[in-house]
Amino acid sequence: MRAGIIGSGAYVPKKIISNFDLEKIVDTSNQWISERTGILYRRKADDNICSSDLGAEAAKIALKNANLNPEDIDLIIAASSSPDRIFPATACLIQNKIGAKNAAAFDIQAACTGFIYAVTTAAQYISTGLYKNILVVGCEVLSKITDFKDRNTCVLFGDGAGAVILSEVDYGGIITNILGADGSGSELLELPAGGTSEPASFDTVKERKHYIKMRGCEVFKFAVRVLEDCTRKIAEKANVSLKDIDYIIPHQANIRIIEAAIKRLEYPCERVVVNLNKYGNMSSASIPVALHEAYQTGKIKRGHKIILVGFGAGLTWGANLIEWTL
Ligand code: ACO
Repeated sequence: MRAGIIGSGAYVPKKIISNFDLEKIVDTSNQWISERTGILYRRKADDNICSSDLGAEAAKIALKNANLNPEDIDLIIAASSSPDRIFPATACLIQNKIGAKNAAAFDIQAACTGFIYAVTTAAQYISTGLYKNILVVGCEVLSKITDFKDRNTCVLFGDGAGAVILSEVDYGGIITNILGADGSGSELLELPAGGTSEPASFDTVKERKHYIKMRGCEVFKFAVRVLEDCTRKIAEKANVSLKDIDYIIPHQANIRIIEAAIKRLEYPCERVVVNLNKYGNMSSASIPVALHEAYQTGKIKRGHKIILVGFGAGLTWGANLIEWTL
């Protein structure tokens, strides 16, 4: 049985933070941010909103587009780098918020590659016949774990959520997947404190260790390498030429990462979906939001072959090759 996407949804908070707004908070400039990253705007959730709230809104849109009721969902997999809490799983909170009372629910932690890992996992449950309708959500309120005193990171991230429903399909679907990880690079990108290695204390708060820390230059090089490698490998695995791929939807971290990888792949840049100018890096939500927008605006059509490809903390990376069903 082949799994395919039968509905998608996206939701971003209304509040927009521009580069000019950030100029007032840290020592940065619109010119630096736009030239070095491609980001112009990002969204910010209100103080009372958490990741499961955004995830639940995206999920409701995906359910409507799939013509399903919440009770039809058998499993929810949520990916988030900014979960509501360490436990319970954000997926359980989303389950309650949307009323998916027949669904099992768990989270996947693969940072910005989380959505790719979650889609890959969901596809296995459908192939084996264990579950029929699976909701996959990538949801982030990164603004609450971003250090707005650190110009190296605070200009990069934004809040948002994307969701898809996977079911058995008789046309198209998820053709193949690639996942990878290298834990030796775990310190390049991390949120150091609040877990069991450094529980929250006065010192961890004082040292601002509850915020994202990143060695940007090393992550940059890693990202360009794996975006290229992963895209090439998944096409080879599926025995498809890159010429026959209609769209690539990469993780939206930095336009220079995307452009460098796409150049190495000799792939036409007009067939790469980019929305990071509007939203910044929304971690696990970046790819599903870009996918939803590309479908809603008529770029992606039935029969198109699409590669979703991501990278993130862990280090992790992965790709899904999909023939679009809708
Ligand atoms: N405004 C102005 N200057 C800045 C800013 C800023 N916001 N941020 C850094 N700088 C300065 C630095 O301090 C440095 O100054 P110095 O030379 O005086 O020390 C200078 O700009 C150059 O810094 P670099 O780090 O070399 O800048 P670079 O061109 O590499 O861009 C960036 C930095 C944007 C962070 C880039 O390295 C990058 O995009 N890295 C990858 C990020 C990424 O993909 N992260 C997400 C991974 S996914 C996940 O799991 C969350």
